[in-house]
Amino acid sequence: MEQKERILELRKQLHEHNYKYYVLNSPEIGDIEFDALMRELQDLEALHPELYDANSPTLRVGSDITKEFEQVAHKYPMLSLGNTYSKAEVAEFYDRVRRTLNEDFEICCELKFDGTSISLTYVDGKLVRAVTRGDGEKGDDVTANVKTIRSVPLVLSGCDYPREFEIRGEVLMPWNVFEVLNAEREAAGEQLFANPRNAASGAIKLQDSSLVAKRRLDAYLYYLLGEELPADGHYENLMAAERWGFKISDTTRKCRTLDDIYDFIDSMDVLRRGLPFATDGVVIKVNSLRQQKNLGYTAKSPRWAIAYKFQAERAVTRLNEVSYQVGRTGVVTPVANLDPVQLSGTVVRRASLHNADIIEKFDLHIGDMVFVEKGGEIIPKITGVDLDMRILVGDKVKFIERCPECGTELMRYPGEAAHYCTNESGCPPQIKGRIEHFVSREAMNIDSIGPETIETMYKLGLLNNIADLYTLQATELMFLPRMGAKSAENVVSALEASRNVPFERVLFALGIRFVGATVAKRLARAFENIDAIMAATPLELMAVEEIGERIAMSVQQFFAKEENRQLIKRLKTAGLKFNLDAEVLEGRTEILKGKTIVISGVFNRHSRDEYKEMIEKNGGKNVGSVSKSTTFILAGENMGPSKLEKAQKMGVPLMNEDEFLAMLSI
Ligand code: IVH
Repeated sequence: MEQKERILELRKQLHEHNYKYYVLNSPEIGDIEFDALMRELQDLEALHPELYDANSPTLRVGSDITKEFEQVAHKYPMLSLGNTYSKAEVAEFYDRVRRTLNEDFEICCELKFDGTSISLTYVDGKLVRAVTRGDGEKGDDVTANVKTIRSVPLVLSGCDYPREFEIRGEVLMPWNVFEVLNAEREAAGEQLFANPRNAASGAIKLQDSSLVAKRRLDAYLYYLLGEELPADGHYENLMAAERWGFKISDTTRKCRTLDDIYDFIDSMDVLRRGLPFATDGVVIKVNSLRQQKNLGYTAKSPRWAIAYKFQAERAVTRLNEVSYQVGRTGVVTPVANLDPVQLSGTVVRRASLHNADIIEKFDLHIGDMVFVEKGGEIIPKITGVDLDMRILVGDKVKFIERCPECGTELMRYPGEAAHYCTNESGCPPQIKGRIEHFVSREAMNIDSIGPETIETMYKLGLLNNIADLYTLQATELMFLPRMGAKSAENVVSALEASRNVPFERVLFALGIRFVGATVAKRLARAFENIDAIMAATPLELMAVEEIGERIAMSVQQFFAKEENRQLIKRLKTAGLKFNLDAEVLEGRTEILKGKTIVISGVFNRHSRDEYKEMIEKNGGKNVGSVSKSTTFILAGENMGPSKLEKAQKMGVPLMNEDEFLAMLSI
């Protein structure tokens, strides 16, 4: 059968080209030729569904079938590493190993990749499963998503691989992909990722694998596990894995002495600044698997390996100007405008100065040479001034007294570091910010309206508050720049659909200060409708779990304002939901009132989220970790040994899912 042979031949060729392009970085054919082969294979596979292969290269493009991930228990737990921050601590590790082993040993030094870890299982040279770290004992089965990562081999080369083994590594999003993704999200008014690590772990958990394919992830592998690995040396096993087609970093080195390790650390600390992806240190491992076994493990990490974390990268650059941004809630944030400078993979032009106190603390002057670091946040921050470089500086930076947008005098509330513009209803960024929040995905999910459209409509006087959205007509929208009849229709139908958004999200969408999604949910469930919330006293509000004085006062002040009461009235007329849905009200009990419940393990009859929902619906509280105040643990299969031990120690009873469902009469 000719077509069958062609399919097999094409699969082989495409696996090889893929490897040359994504692992070796040396393609042999051009993109057009590659795409033509891929299309030919796709067409032939469509004609021959009986020749389906779970590892065909055509699966690299993903599919839009969505499904919740299945939880899979790890055969070997995925542990973390002990961290060190100084060479002295590395020396302590080295000495401890030397004393314990009392024989010669080799060390394998590697980069510490800053992405999200993954465990891949291969059987008979084929990728059969990819699982996230999860809680270390079980993770999500993300095989379909991992298959879209071109540098992960779907079938292995050579023939000397073990029949079954696991290989672990890090899924990474390269800096350039990360920057484009965040720029796109910014334009669409979506929340930005703080770093490529969050972006990679977000991508690997997307429900639609065809979207994962577009994120252009990469993967480096660094750890093999199995009963029949080819060598006793970890490094030697990595080299074998490289031959089988895996992407192994060519920076990996074998060392003997402490000085070798220090040299490796120093050279990586320089090299990493030019790498296309994020790294946050090096990992130092005892090379022999036999010796690793001798050294063993603590509860959380191996005794045979340690991570050395690099200092946060710091750059020095000139402060040219301080500008001020006004947020949705009126907070005014000072922003440093800098001479562009390269910092861990990206070019930095602006950095946060947080508040007036920080400016004062640094005695900041225009023209100062400042230190910039990336923290966990999206925007880098100024961490100091290089006073030795202060020669000819300009004016001392003085925090503004009036709002840069509307001229209103700024306020500082007692105990708060921030300055506020209090002109809520007249200050443009506050008005636009509230509308952007209202339409955002987590709120009303009217995502056909982006920040640019809001800006245009606001300028034209079509949109002054959230209630105005519901008076918009397709006929007026279609003449806006970049809009057209089709998009105008989309906006109108998205507005229409938003009338079905549940009450708790409408409450969140109002943008009341300190009322995030969780608080909104709690308020909605406790009071059941907006009128009851509007009529509640702060004390009544504070009777709800997790609602303190700060939130209660903010809610009361919001509804005390006549303009906000008018807004609610108009939104009610527009048909938004201001009552809890009957389905939510239905089936609510107080069976679990006052009970604090931990969910652990894998379940058969319902998903974890469903159990969470059941606990809440029946008046209980779901928490993450076991403590003395835990009433019981809803325990599934493969419950984590550390949780189990803790439960036994503290005398917390376990309940299985059948018992739990019976208790709720489900
Ligand atoms: S070895 C039992 N090697 O760091 C130790 N981990 O803090 C297994 N990581 O969860 C891990 N680069 O996600 C190892 N070259 C490397 C690594 C590495 C990054 C991550 C990994 C792990 C975390 C531990």
